Amino acid sequence: MYQRDENLEHFIRVARSLFQAPALPEAGRRLAVKVFERLEQPSDDGKRNSERYPACDLLDSALAPLLDDTSGIGDAARAIKVLEPAIGWQRRTSGSNGSKDYVEKHVNGMICGPGGMESRYDIQLGFSLLAPHTRYPDHQHPPEEAYVLISAGEFRQRDGDWFDPGIGGGLHNTPNSLHAMRSGTTPLLALWCLLV
Ligand SMILES: [Fe+2]
Repeated sequence: MYQRDENLEHFIRVARSLFQAPALPEAGRRLAVKVFERLEQPSDDGKRNSERYPACDLLDSALAPLLDDTSGIGDAARAIKVLEPAIGWQRRTSGSNGSKDYVEKHVNGMICGPGGMESRYDIQLGFSLLAPHTRYPDHQHPPEEAYVLISAGEFRQRDGDWFDPGIGGGLHNTPNSLHAMRSGTTPLLALWCLLV
């Protein structure tokens, strides 16, 4: 029977509290409550995305400034660093308005979800990592989604203005609503969770 790794259990605890931060929209916190309730039940079908991509090499430099942070953001950074070898990596290659080379300059780390460290299909919990000066394409998906920012970054929902939720802040995407993100002079690192 599958037994969840203690480091993963710790990461889930840390993420659960970040997704309940007052800086998140209430709808995002509500969604996260449901996601983390499902995560109380460990589940893994053993399917791992084993490929690594160029942008994976950015993870260390994105985490480095946060490793001494004493808040939940630092806890998340340290927990991600420990999990790094077990993360299932994937990239988005579709969508519009992405910056040139965005495919090479980003990667998504699946921690709980298809092909991730805990491969399952009822929720997704992971993060996006963008190199500096990268715009992720406009995209949409049926599952509702909440984000928490671990670093600086900007987001756009539908055809609205770009906004920065601030580190520890976040956003909520309703089902199938168009959204995008972009980094400034530093890598963007943002956690997401989805209810599938
Ligand atoms: Fe998304």
